[in-house]
Amino acid sequence: MTAPVLVVAGARPNFMKVAPVLAALREEPRVPYLLVHTGQHYDERMSALFFEELALPKPDVELNVGSGTQATQTAAVLERLEAVLLEHRPRMVLVVGDVNSTLAGALAAVKLGIAVAHVEAGLRSFDRTMPEEINRVVTDAVSELLFATEESAVENLEREGVAPERVHLVGNTMIDTLQAHRERAGASRILDRLGLEPASYAVLTLHRPSNVDDPLTLSRMLGPIRELSARMPVIFPVHPRTRESLRGIPEAAGARGLRFLDPLGYLDFLRLMSESRLVLTDSGGIQEETTVLGVPCVTLRDNTERPVTIRNGTNRLGGTEPEGIRKAIDEALASGSVVPTPPPLWDGRAGMRIGHVLRGWLDA
Ligand code: UD1
Repeated sequence: MTAPVLVVAGARPNFMKVAPVLAALREEPRVPYLLVHTGQHYDERMSALFFEELALPKPDVELNVGSGTQATQTAAVLERLEAVLLEHRPRMVLVVGDVNSTLAGALAAVKLGIAVAHVEAGLRSFDRTMPEEINRVVTDAVSELLFATEESAVENLEREGVAPERVHLVGNTMIDTLQAHRERAGASRILDRLGLEPASYAVLTLHRPSNVDDPLTLSRMLGPIRELSARMPVIFPVHPRTRESLRGIPEAAGARGLRFLDPLGYLDFLRLMSESRLVLTDSGGIQEETTVLGVPCVTLRDNTERPVTIRNGTNRLGGTEPEGIRKAIDEALASGSVVPTPPPLWDGRAGMRIGHVLRGWLDA
């Protein structure tokens, strides 16, 4: 099978980001593509459910790399993807986001002389202890086409000396997916299932290695959240990485209002988030989604690579220390309802813009 474009996806947040790009490539004039799933995420609830709900096409190739250390996981994708690239010889490899599959996809391609397109290029936390920051910096350095979600990303790339004609501010494909599924998410029964009333509960997600891998750090962060759970239910869909650490802190289960769930599907989570009073998270994508939904968000990190979510959106940094988290929660709850002012081009058409640029590049 030959196709000019090979698209790589591997971890949960990748799936929402590739869906609009694949849809755009299927529009006329069609651009044939191959979809490769690296298998970085493989649980039913981390992967298959998202393919189903987002109506993603079945991957043409599955690399089944599974979990591992930073190096082994990245190396497994590199090695297996190289063989696929040699067989299919695409002209361009498209990668999204900042996960290990993104980095490995970009490296495997560029080393074979295949051009790389990066969706969500240019975001910088300036914190090189984050594996994602390394993935972003390296992927952008070897990319031919860089698709940016926000103006700060364009400025970062300019500062790093990337030629301006390679950078395209196109908007946010994750928001394309949000807008395309908002109505369907409205039919989710998740609130009934959990016995929740709109605007009366908080949602929590945590999965950054620096927050969750050490049970002591995680336990400290959960302190102010357990206090919040005395005031309103806190719904906590637990990422597999975090589940491991929680075993080490049995007291976390002691707070009655803090409710642990398995990871949720896209539609249930979107509904849960949309109707919540407050979201607490260390995810990048959720900072963006709450910005568009107009739901107050406290980011449980010291920095964000997505400053537009603070400037235009409902996001505030709570840090990772109990005092800061407590203060940010109070401020967020006092902030009242917010009318969303989405950042420029977060209008549901980012995938189409990317499709347009890719066609131009392939024709040139
Ligand atoms: C990865 C990304 C992170 C992204 C996150 C979204 C990197 C460096 N990090 O982090 O940027 O925000 O995905 O979820 O790529 N596991 C399962 N089942 C799965 C997948 C993982 O049980 O389907 C467990 C395994 O024990 C694994 C751990 O979760 O070791 C971590 O998975 P991994 O893909 O290494 O990183 P994430 O923490 O998910």
